Amino acid sequence: MTGDDRRLAAVEDVPAESTLLVTLREGSDEREALLVRLDDGVACWRNYCQHWTDVRLDRGSGARVKGGEIWCQKHAATFDPTTGECTFGPCEGAYLEEVDVEVRDGGVYLADDDYAFVRQGPAEENTDESLTSGGGRIDFTGS
Ligand code: FES
Repeated sequence: MTGDDRRLAAVEDVPAESTLLVTLREGSDEREALLVRLDDGVACWRNYCQHWTDVRLDRGSGARVKGGEIWCQKHAATFDPTTGECTFGPCEGAYLEEVDVEVRDGGVYLADDDYAFVRQGPAEENTDESLTSGGGRIDFTGS
C-alpha cells in the first residue's frame, strides 16, 4: 500500500501562494486536509482553523498564503506552514493538526497510517457549500 493510491499530488500542483485541498478517509469518515509549499518540500495540515474548528481554511479554491503564512479568512489568524503554529490571531499559540506526508519522485505521498487518500478537492459534505462560499447563506425554504 505504498504505491499510487498514496500519491496525493504532484509537487508542482501545490501552488506557491495558496493551498491544494485533498480529501482523506479516517475510518468511515472523510477528512479534508490542505497541502502547502515549504522552502524544502510540502506540508499537510487538516483543514480547519484552531479558533473556530468548523471554519475551513481552504474553502475549495485554496487558502490565502501570504508573507509565508497561511491565513484564516474568518478572523485573519495566521499559521506557520512549517510548524502549523498560529503566529497571530485569536488562537495564537495553537497548532494545526498535522498529516504526515513525504515528497519523492516529484510527488507528495501520504505517509500517515491514520488516513487513506480519497481524492483531490473537497469532502462530499462540502461539495454543495462551495456553491455559496462567496456570500451569505440563503434559505430558499422560507421556513
Ligand atoms: S475562525 Fe479562524 S481566526 Fe477565527
